[in-house]
Amino acid sequence: MSHAITAIATADKAGFYASYNRQLAAVLEGERDWTCNLANTSALLMQLLPDLNWAGFYLRQGPDLVLGPFQGKVACVRIPVGKGVCGTAAARRTTVVVPNVHEFPGHIACDSASNSEIVVPLLHAGRLLGVLDLDSPKLNRFDADDATGLERSVAILLGASNLPA
Ligand code: SME
Repeated sequence: MSHAITAIATADKAGFYASYNRQLAAVLEGERDWTCNLANTSALLMQLLPDLNWAGFYLRQGPDLVLGPFQGKVACVRIPVGKGVCGTAAARRTTVVVPNVHEFPGHIACDSASNSEIVVPLLHAGRLLGVLDLDSPKLNRFDADDATGLERSVAILLGASNLPA
């Protein structure tokens, strides 16, 4: 099934995410495969969110986060929970917004173009499945509206998918 993806005005972030998340739900509808839905979610993020250079997932395997479906340049493959921005969000189980990655102690630089970052944990029934990671070449690209909008995106993704055992 193909979907007509519509560009969204970005002046009002709450309105942007309302439209974005409607399109995400439409893209994921009718398919519950986890890998497939992770892949198309990363593609839609890269297609519609302005000023990104990387968008994708790290999936938890034991004490590590392992690279999953993504869009962008070749990335670090394995991040211990507790390390970097991804591992910090995973350990805290909360969204982490980093206005300037160069000032974040322990930031793991995968793409030298990245200047700011947001990481949203994938939590289901108390279980940490992984994280969603977005990188931007712009400083201070992400704020609380992005956190709220992307946490809703993650809830849509988890609700639309058969989750790993
Ligand atoms: N910067 C991340 C590593 C992943 S890349 O940005 C794709 C971190 O510090 O966890």
